[in-house]
Amino acid sequence: MPEPPIADPTTPAAHSPVAPSPAAPEAAPTTPAGLVIALDGPGSSGKSSVGAAAALELGYRFCDTGLLYRAVTWLSLHRDVAETDVEALVSLVSEVELAADAEGRLARVLVDGRDVTEEVRAPDVDAAVSAVSRVPELRAALLDRQRLLAAPGRIIVAGRDIGTVVLPDADLKLFLTASVAERARRRAEERRVNPDRPEGRAILADLRRRDQLDSSRAVAPLRPADDARVLLTDGNRFDETVKLVVDAIRKAEASRPSAGDPRTARKSRRKRRGPQAPEVASASDPADSAEGSRPPRVPAPAEPVTPLAHTPIESHQTLLIRFVAWAARLITRAVTHVTLEGDVDAIPRAGPVILAANHASNADPVVIGAWLTPRLGRRIHWLGKKELFDWPVIGWMARNGGVHPVDRSRADLEAFRLAQRILEEGHLLMVFPEGTRSPDGALQPARDGLAMLALRTGAPIVPIAVVDSDRRWPRGRLLPRPGGRITLRIGEPFRLADDPATSGRGRAAKGAATDRLMGRIAALLPPRQRGAYAAQVPEAPASADEA
Ligand code: DC
Repeated sequence: MPEPPIADPTTPAAHSPVAPSPAAPEAAPTTPAGLVIALDGPGSSGKSSVGAAAALELGYRFCDTGLLYRAVTWLSLHRDVAETDVEALVSLVSEVELAADAEGRLARVLVDGRDVTEEVRAPDVDAAVSAVSRVPELRAALLDRQRLLAAPGRIIVAGRDIGTVVLPDADLKLFLTASVAERARRRAEERRVNPDRPEGRAILADLRRRDQLDSSRAVAPLRPADDARVLLTDGNRFDETVKLVVDAIRKAEASRPSAGDPRTARKSRRKRRGPQAPEVASASDPADSAEGSRPPRVPAPAEPVTPLAHTPIESHQTLLIRFVAWAARLITRAVTHVTLEGDVDAIPRAGPVILAANHASNADPVVIGAWLTPRLGRRIHWLGKKELFDWPVIGWMARNGGVHPVDRSRADLEAFRLAQRILEEGHLLMVFPEGTRSPDGALQPARDGLAMLALRTGAPIVPIAVVDSDRRWPRGRLLPRPGGRITLRIGEPFRLADDPATSGRGRAAKGAATDRLMGRIAALLPPRQRGAYAAQVPEAPASADEA
């Protein structure tokens, strides 16, 4: 049964210049303690509508925290308060109240007692809200209000940073996401706009811009918590996604040892989860099939390569991908020792990402795929020469394993368009910017394509170095040399777009961007492998790898 309607019990009515609205009684709910669910995700991922529907079905309260940021933004636009005027911005918080709708969900927002729920969803607020919500002082001012709302339990709290910052101890963390193209289409439908008309394209551009702002801000950036379950909803019907969320919450409730002791429940949940990689599920996740909620997924039969424009881009890892990664780790470990270094958890778990590595050996894609697949929990997309798809077993694995065929006779433009589409639809792309294996293990000059792609899509780049793979399996050798060690070193994600030296459109700017990007890879490599980009690494410290 749904809870009786309740208001935002945290509204600082005492400091508010107006009395609370009758629609928003200030009494705290008298519900028994229940689960606290964090539901995060990017704009238009469906958090609010899916969360509200799931809450209704489960008899939970629901709170859309985005409304708080939207209401402050709306007020700032009306009062002409710039986001740089931090004090004035923070003072607006006391004028904002959340109120319950007819179903008892905190899905309405009142400013000075006036219901502005419709207004805060208008395009002018869409355009300004990301900049306002970057202000750390504002986020801090809203933090306690959100926590107090969740304190009585039995609530789904939707936002961007609920699982990571607001409620890091939530009983269940879900991260709802979909490709930017799919989200833009949904938003266009909501607004009865044709996605292919200029208004529809403006929605797509705005969502992209907001994704970028939300996930790159210094304070509480948009990202799934390490222990979040990521739900990819591309191609799902609304009711399918609601069911995924409801099932996940029911499962969390069922596995709770005792209804009265949330802390015991949290502990046991952490224990069950094991390592901190987020789980990934979609409507077609085989894990869900195993629980009987969906029919089992049948592996796709080998098909002729479809034209690129129609190649569907999947986000989740299939059982085949996970199995191949596992088998590749097993085989590689039998031949050599692999060390993974750097902060793998800093690689974004949602949205567009470019992994860019040096290429000195056939071992590079094997080591990268085998070691990163289990850690990332999301599919790595690769570009592969078309001929690969004709080889018997390899071809089948490539077709089903995230490799996209590129015709090298017409390669560059086609590969560029495909790579752009992969990123624009919010996926993770692995690229070797040198294009081909280095003959001597040192970095070769790279083309400017990847830098252009990164600048055009705004995708963050994660530089990666595969150290000494050329010593284990040099170019020209049929089989690897057993023994030794390969180090897979992950660098810090960065955006070329944030670098003033790489702005501009000319050839020089593109060249500077490529140097910048290759310099980041070079800095992770030992001096002997820095090759053409040695000069990009300022005072190269002597590296242990040189030994
Ligand atoms: O989910 P939404 O589009 O209504 O959110 C509006 C904005 O508020 C969004 O650009 C990011 C911000 N927001 C946030 O920073 N943290 C939250 N917990 C919720 C929303």
